[in-house]
Amino acid sequence: MQDRDTFGSKFGVLVAMAGSAVGLGNLWRFPYLVGTNGGAAFIFIYLAFVFLLCLPLMYSEFVIGRRSRANVFGAFKVLAPKSNWSIVGIIAVLASISIMAFYSVVGGWTVDYFFKALTFQFSTADRNHLDVIFNTTVTSTYKPLVFMAIFVVLTALIVIAGVKKGIEKYTKIMMPLLFLMIILLDIRALTLPGASAGVSFLFKPDFSKVTSDTLLDALGQAFFSLSLGCGTIITYASYVSKNVGIVDTSIKTAVSDTLFAILAGIAIMPAVFAFGISPSEGPGLVFITLPYIFVQIPLGSILAILFFFILFIAAITSSISLMEVAVAYLIEEFKMKRLSAVLLSSAVVLVLGTLCSLSQGLLSGIKIAGRNFFDLFDFLSSNVFMTIGGLLSIIFVGWWLKKEAFKDEMHYKSKNLFCRRYIDVTFFVIKYIAPIVVFVIMLRGWLK
Ligand code: PHE
Repeated sequence: MQDRDTFGSKFGVLVAMAGSAVGLGNLWRFPYLVGTNGGAAFIFIYLAFVFLLCLPLMYSEFVIGRRSRANVFGAFKVLAPKSNWSIVGIIAVLASISIMAFYSVVGGWTVDYFFKALTFQFSTADRNHLDVIFNTTVTSTYKPLVFMAIFVVLTALIVIAGVKKGIEKYTKIMMPLLFLMIILLDIRALTLPGASAGVSFLFKPDFSKVTSDTLLDALGQAFFSLSLGCGTIITYASYVSKNVGIVDTSIKTAVSDTLFAILAGIAIMPAVFAFGISPSEGPGLVFITLPYIFVQIPLGSILAILFFFILFIAAITSSISLMEVAVAYLIEEFKMKRLSAVLLSSAVVLVLGTLCSLSQGLLSGIKIAGRNFFDLFDFLSSNVFMTIGGLLSIIFVGWWLKKEAFKDEMHYKSKNLFCRRYIDVTFFVIKYIAPIVVFVIMLRGWLK
């Protein structure tokens, strides 16, 4: 057995897990999904999915990783020798790579926007001009590739340093900073004149806007935001020592992630309303609408720098967790050195990321199943690999690993009565309810 790196402290585990969860999904996707799906009603459904359905899924992945102490592929080999379950590991590796392909492109845009903010390039409140800036940022041929490469190299540098000396060390600094910075932005947003309309949009539910698509969006977002189904939790959990509580860490991760998404909503929506912009602006919200607002408010140019720095930090702490999935797999299954594993993973990401980036401009004419490369990788990861990976992982825990092993890993015996009942109910959800719900929603997504 090779010596495996481990996390050095409970706090280290939490910030790494939360770092993976809090990402572009919280800042870029969550606010516009809230905006287009009727505000608080969406948040309400999202919360229900996170705590009733996704949390049990997170426990399952945690159990698989911690019990096996191996990479995603190895984990299934250890827990289910001589079976075909390790295919789930391959699906997870594919999921993490295809997420990285488009995630790094958006990560590159955030680096670009950070520099734009630093050099005060959002100096005009002309929306058309900001549209043009965004379009040029994403459709140019070379520039976005350079920024994407910067993003991938920074990710690689952290991952090369290892779990304790890289991932843990940096997320310990970056995550508290991230929360502090978003709270500063919130204070500014809440003190804008007219902010209250945005706040009531976020917290007063209007269920008339809820359709079956809302459910699909909410579950998809919860999956993505909690980093489920793509091996990151299994991989990180394999570096966690036995005395760390799974329930405790998972709940804290889910709460931090959800809290951060809501704090991001508070940073964005009041300003959107204060400027009379429709909350359903869609994906351009962060890159077009926000700069438009920033140039018009006092201290706006500083806030712009802060905001794009937050976006970048959130993205990189997620991207290191994605890269670690492939890296751990290469190190343990192919006996590679960490450095070579990181170089190989980065090279693959750069090639696929280049396709995604160019598909916004030069290669926009190339469509596979009606989608350009960027949308294809987004679709494949969210609607195929992550959902199948997540679904098979819970089926594995519920039906193969069985309840005794699950209880053992969850420290059932040392828990009080209330916690034991909770673990029993959770196992029931894992075995019977979650697989059906995830399957139905996955089918609905395919047939849409
Ligand atoms: N959870 C991250 C986000 O919200 C994305 C992610 C997905 C990271 C899957 C790791 C694994 O941006």
